[in-house]
Amino acid sequence: MASFDKDSLSNTFTVALLLCLVCSVIVSGIAVALKPQQQANKALDQKQNILRAAGMLPQNSSTDAEGRTVDELFAEFTVRVVDLDTGEYRDDLDAASFDPIRAAKDSALSVALSAEQDIATLRRRENASLVYIKRDGDEIDKVVLPVRGYGLWGTLFGYLALDADLQTISGLGFYAHRETPGLGGEVDNPRWKQAWPGVQLFNDAGEPAVRLVKRRSPQSAAAAGFEVDALSGATFTTRGVENLVNFWTGELGFGPFIKRLKAENA
Ligand SMILES: Cc1cc2nc3c(=O)[nH]c(=O)nc-3n(C[C@H](O)[C@H](O)[C@H](O)COP(=O)(O)O)c2cc1C
Repeated sequence: MASFDKDSLSNTFTVALLLCLVCSVIVSGIAVALKPQQQANKALDQKQNILRAAGMLPQNSSTDAEGRTVDELFAEFTVRVVDLDTGEYRDDLDAASFDPIRAAKDSALSVALSAEQDIATLRRRENASLVYIKRDGDEIDKVVLPVRGYGLWGTLFGYLALDADLQTISGLGFYAHRETPGLGGEVDNPRWKQAWPGVQLFNDAGEPAVRLVKRRSPQSAAAAGFEVDALSGATFTTRGVENLVNFWTGELGFGPFIKRLKAENA
């Protein structure tokens, strides 16, 4: 029997090639096998972000004070697709699979924003988006809206939660951004996030009026209710957050939907 010449060039290449093939099959197999788990983790993460924005889940916990899990708490929400122009529900679109961020990239499913309209630097806005509604019996208890907008280094993605009156902010949290830790990254600081619940959204004219300010107005001033402390050393991120909140609660964002719900609840 001919002996295997392990030092020959062709055999060295053959062994290296076989090894590469075996390794790539193993790695791809693992990637495919783990995909459902990755998707489940991603979905769980989004649910946690929504619950945290709504103040229903503590920051570093996966259960609430009564021990209810993320899935149990999230089951209290109804997820709907909303037409952003009319504020009406789009029952022809499946809320479970609809992705507003992907829709914004498709010219058939989104509109281009003019420079004047585009205060959150989105370039395009999806025609429809998702809303997460929690009811207490027939009454609305909380509404959570997906929001996004440009900071200094990139787009911040998050959720804005509103109280039952659809006028008071219940919470704001970002799940992805590229701001600098310690500067713009302070959007994740629990102390800063605590400043959001109770902030008023709309002025007497019904326009979004949230302001992020370096110096707060006196408590007695009408403007005080709309104000949140700016992030120090992060003027660009601060402006980005102010703009994105006001964009998504305005006429081009969820404004028509919020008005419709308010009128229904009145
Ligand atoms: C390395 C580096 C990272 C920065 N990251 C941010 C940031 O994430 N967000 C931001 O608004 N400003 C950031 N800045 C600061 C801005 O460039 C700018 O100086 C700042 O917004 C001024 O804010 P102030 O007027 O509140 O001091 C960064 C600056 C440097 C040098």
